[in-house]
Parts: sequence; structure tokens; C-alpha cells
Amino acid sequence: MGILEGKRLLVTGVLTDASIAFSVARLAQEEGATIVLTGFGRLSLVERIARRLPEPPPVIELDVQNTDHLDSLADRVGEHLDGLDGVVHSIGFAPQSCLGGNFLNTPWEDVATAVHISTYSFKSLAVACLPLMKEGGAVVGLDFDATRAWPVYDWMGVAKAGLESCARYLARDLGPHGIRVNLVAAGPLRTMAAKSIPGFKEFEDSWPEKAPLGWDLADTVPAAKACLALMSDWFPATTGEIVHVDGGVHAIGA
Ligand SMILES: NC(=O)c1ccc[n+]([C@@H]2O[C@H](COP(=O)([O-])OP(=O)(O)OC[C@H]3O[C@@H](n4cnc5c(N)ncnc54)[C@H](O)[C@@H]3O)[C@@H](O)[C@H]2O)c1
Repeated sequence: MGILEGKRLLVTGVLTDASIAFSVARLAQEEGATIVLTGFGRLSLVERIARRLPEPPPVIELDVQNTDHLDSLADRVGEHLDGLDGVVHSIGFAPQSCLGGNFLNTPWEDVATAVHISTYSFKSLAVACLPLMKEGGAVVGLDFDATRAWPVYDWMGVAKAGLESCARYLARDLGPHGIRVNLVAAGPLRTMAAKSIPGFKEFEDSWPEKAPLGWDLADTVPAAKACLALMSDWFPATTGEIVHVDGGVHAIGA
């Protein structure tokens, strides 16, 4: 029996097979879950990637900035699943001006876009899925440790600090519905989102050295496994938590 046997999950954020969400989807199926994916932008691309999963799942469209998409999400997921036990938020975006050392000059409009897509959408997605979570469940999001100012991460770091706070407020308000809300703070991974960060190489060079356990920049499985564990029945009393999957870097002085 897999740890997600019988669970019904919505997984956002599959873009390529390097996406963290791709490993989440693959391992979730291997662990017995039935999944539906959401895709953003060119759905044919996401569908092509989805065919590489053990059982190609349905893909439905979701732009978290589109209120029609959010308002209709429960109905559209409901065409495939009779409820949800877990939701994975693996979504992040910031315009180029938000990243790479331009912190003092980034215009508000670009910061607003980053916060809308990377922070506020955690709440939007959870609330959109609420009608399908009548028996409780788990919501998990992907974080990058926001307790310090990193090189080049800039306004995305601010958006992630907001995500961490958002997770705590969601945990407060969804707890009475039996829904747990947690984050996985992953170390740097070579995905499309990471490649769009100018200066990402700084993380690539230093992280494996700093991590007591070492760190593989190309391996999304550890982060995905933590997401699965948090959606399983093995964290029944944990909410508002951030689980670091970073090789241990967060615990070590520079
Ligand atoms: N790669 C890393 O180093 C790293 C480390 C820690 C946390 N994370 C976080 O993991 C999550 C997934 O990113 P990833 O690294 O797998 O990269 P990725 O590029 O594969 O995934 C990012 C996803 O966000 C989606 N997205 C962007 N704008 C959207 C919108 N308006 N509506 C819906 N979806 C939208 C993209 O389609 C894509 O699927 C993000 O929250 C990211 O910040 C990444």
C-alpha cells in the first residue's frame, strides 16, 4: 500500500519534467493517489509532459490571475474527481525587474504581479478548492526560505516571506475545516523558474558546499517526497509548518 492510497489530489505547476510538481505527480501516482493537473499557458505542452507520468492524468487550465478560472475550478475538477484530499501549490513567477540585484528600483506594478502569482494565489487556490474538501485534507505549497535576504532573489524573497505568513493565516482559518496547510522550503533546483533568475548560479555554486547532507540541484525528488508526506495521513496534527528540504543549509551559519 502506498502512503497516498485512495487520495484524490490536485497538482498545479507542472511545466516541464524538471518541475518540482512533475516529481510530486509521478510519486503521488506511484503511492496510490489519483491526480488531476492544472496547467498555465500552453496546455498542449503540459499535456505532452503529463503523458510521461505513469498514468496520464487530466489537465485543466488555471491561471491564478484569472478569477473566472478560479471561480470555475471546483466544478472543472469535480468532472474528474468526486472530492479532494490534497492540493499542491507549486506556482511562482516574478517579472525580471524583481530579480537579480535590482531591488531598489523595481516598480510596484512588477512587485504586485510577483505577489499576486506567488503569494496571494496560495489563498485563492485553497479557497477555490474548498467546496471539494468537505472531509478535510491538506494543502501544500513550495517555499524558498524567506528568513534572510539572499543574493539576487530580491522581490521574490519578499513574495516568499508573504507566502510563509499566508500559510500561517490559512492554517488558522482552514483548521476548523479539518484542512492542514504547510510549506516545503526547498533548496535551489534547476527548473524553468530557477533558470529565469539572473545570477541563480550563485546558489548553484554555494549550496552543495554549505549543505551538511550535500545537495543535488537536479533532483526534485526530496522536495516532492516531503510534499507527499505532508499530504499523507502521517502528519495529522501538523499545520502552519515549514519543512526545510535543503540539505540542511537553513540550520548552518554562513
Ligand atoms: N527551483 C527552485 O530552486 C525552487 C526552490 C524553492 C522553491 N521553489 C518553488 O517551487 C515552485 C515551483 O517552481 P519550479 O521550481 O518547479 O519551477 P517551474 O518553472 O517548473 O514551475 C513554476 C510553475 O508556475 C506556473 N505559473 C506561473 N505563473 C502562473 C499563473 N499565473 N497561474 C498558474 N500557474 C503559473 C508555471 O506554469 C510553472 O508550472 C515555485 O513556487 C517556486 O518558487 C523553487
